[in-house]
This record gives sequence, C-alpha cells and structure tokens, in this order.
Amino acid sequence: MGQAVILTHPLLQHKISLLRNKSTDTGVFRRTVTEIAMLLGYEAYRDLETESVSVTTPLTTAEVPMLAGQPPVLVPILRAGLGMVEGMSALLPEVSVGHIGLYRDEETFEPHTYFCKLPPNLSERQVIVLDPMLATGGSAVQAIDALKEKGCKRIRFVSIIAAPEGLQTLQQAHPDIDILVGCLDSHLNERAYIVPGLGDAGDRLFGTIIP
Ligand code: PRP
Ligand code: URA
Repeated sequence: MGQAVILTHPLLQHKISLLRNKSTDTGVFRRTVTEIAMLLGYEAYRDLETESVSVTTPLTTAEVPMLAGQPPVLVPILRAGLGMVEGMSALLPEVSVGHIGLYRDEETFEPHTYFCKLPPNLSERQVIVLDPMLATGGSAVQAIDALKEKGCKRIRFVSIIAAPEGLQTLQQAHPDIDILVGCLDSHLNERAYIVPGLGDAGDRLFGTIIP
C-alpha cells in the first residue's frame, strides 16, 4: 500500500505562494519551480538505498553510509513536469530521465499521450513521476498506467499542488504508489483548474500565455 504525504514546511509553502501570484514573471516562476523541486526531492529521495563503506576522516577510520544500487529514473510529464527536472537532478546528477508527453483536452479534460521515451530495465529501478499539477488526476493515472505496462514496480508521484479530487482519483487507480505533494488546495473549478492554484503551469513555465 502506498503512502500520500502532504508537506507543510514554511519555506516550501512560501515558494509555492510565489508561484501562485499572477504577477510572478516567467523567469522567477521557472527558478522557483527548480527550488521547490529541490525541496521536494529531499523528501522524494528519502528511501534511496545506502551501503556501509569505510572512510578515513582526519581523525579516524569509520564505517559510513553512501548511496548504493541503481539511481532512480525521473519521468517528467510534459510539458510542465520538465520544470522539476533541474532541481531533482541537481541533488542527484546520476538519475536517468524518461519522458511522457500528455496534454489535457480542454473540453473533456481527458489526457492524450503524444510521446513516450523511457530508459530500459524499468522493472529494477525506482521511478519518480514529476508533474507540478495534480488536478483531475487523469494525466497522472495515464502516465502511471504506461509505466506499469513497461514493468515498473516502484513508483512515486511528486507534484507541487494537488486538488483533493485528483489525489483521490490517483490513490484509487494506483493504491500501491507513493505520492508526495507540496500543497493540497481547495477544489477544481468548472474548467478543471485547481483553486486557488497557480493557473496553467506549462504556460507560466514556458511563457506561452496569450496576453
Ligand atoms: C497540465 C499539468 C498536468 C495536467 C494536470 O498539463 O501539467 O499534466 O494538466 O491535469 P489533470 O490532473 O486534470 O490531468 P496540460 O495538459 O495543461 O499540458 P501542458 O503541460 O503541455 O500545458
Ligand atoms: N493544469 C494546470 O496547469 N493547472 C491546473 O490548475 C490544472 C491543470
């Protein structure tokens, strides 16, 4: 059974509030997403394997923990998940990165897959799916369906803001995965946008908002 963790750290909440402000420009938005991804990454990497190695310090020789095993695979959901790769990989440069491209139909809110490129041997690796927004949950469910079809067994989903509706949908569809969320918002509006939210994450990240 997977776990859902909603973080409450004041630094993280402050940075998420910067993203929410509609006056935050693309440059600051992008940099702040990177910083938030580092804070989320600290938690997301919590169960990395370690092994005991012998290290000689200036004072003595000691058995100390070092990371062991294969590094995880990050899988950003395009487009907005791409913004989280820099921060997550700054903490652990050895990660592999796979990509899943999905867009949400504006009328039906149904996700459509347009790209999928993943590293081989996923069944032996921990996979961390990245998407700043968990709204209806449709995109996350479809991305994780695709990963399970490729044999992934250890999956964690990491997002910056979730709606209660999306969190419930994801937990029901994939009860075995771990979920890490920076903030749980109030609800979805009639266009399936998260309220209060931050608007369209992809558009704000890549400066593609129509003025
Ligand atoms: C956004 C967001 C998620 C999805 C969440 O992407 O980045 O992938 O919506 O919505 P859901 O939980 O209701 O599926 P969008 O479809 O706008 O594509 P984009 O990142 O290319 O703008
Ligand atoms: N996708 C976004 O980018 N924002 C939302 O609020 C919902 C879906």
